[in-house]
Amino acid sequence: MINKINLDDLVIREMQAEDVDAVTDLEQSCFSMPWKRADFEDIVTRSDRIYLVAVYRGELAGGCMMSDIVGEGDISNVAVYEQYRGQRIADMLLKAMFSLGEERSIVDYTLEVRSQNQSAIRLYERNGFVTEGVRKNFYQKPTDDALIMWKRS
Ligand SMILES: CC(C)(COP(=O)(O)OP(=O)(O)OC[C@H]1O[C@@H](n2cnc3c(N)ncnc32)[C@H](O)[C@@H]1OP(=O)(O)O)[C@@H](O)C(=O)NCCC(=O)NCCS
Repeated sequence: MINKINLDDLVIREMQAEDVDAVTDLEQSCFSMPWKRADFEDIVTRSDRIYLVAVYRGELAGGCMMSDIVGEGDISNVAVYEQYRGQRIADMLLKAMFSLGEERSIVDYTLEVRSQNQSAIRLYERNGFVTEGVRKNFYQKPTDDALIMWKRS
C-alpha cells in the first residue's frame, strides 16, 4: 500500500477520452470479468452515464460509474488500485457521484455486489445502502450471489 496519500493531491473528475486506456487497465486489475475498452469509449460519448476517475499526482488511483436509468442512479465498476485501498478513495468517489446525481435530481441509487465482498459491502453500508434482495449465483469466476442494495431518499 502507498503510504497515506495527501488528499490535496487527489483530483476527482469525469473520465475523458484520454483516460480510457488507464481506466481499462484499472478495470482489468480489479475485476475477474472486466469491461472492455470499447465499453469505456462508449461511456465518454453518453449523457446517461458518468464515469468518475480519482487521479493522484497524475496517476489513476480509482474510478466508478453511474448510469442514470430514468432518474435512478445505478452504480457500478467501483474500483481502486490495490496500493491505494483503505484510504477512503472509493468513499470519496461515491460522494462525488451523489453530488452529480443531485444535480440530475437523482434521489435513489442501486447497485449489485458479490455477497463475499465484505469491504465493498461495508463501503456501501457506510454510504447509506441497504440490502433489499439477493440474486442467487449471479456472478461467475468465482460463482457468488449478488446482493441488490438500494440507497433511498
Ligand atoms: C471495494 C473497493 C472499491 C474499496 O476501495 P477503498 O478505496 O479501499 O475503500 P475504503 O478506503 O473505503 O476501504 C474499504 C475497507 O477496506 C479496509 N482496508 C484498509 N486497508 C486496506 C488495504 N490495504 N486493502 C484493502 N482494504 C483495506 C478499509 O479500512 C475499509 O474497511 P472498513 O470498511 O471496515 O473501514 C476496493 O477494495 C476495490 O477496488 N476492490 C476490487 C473491486 C471491487 O470489488 N469493487 C466493488 C464491486 S461491487
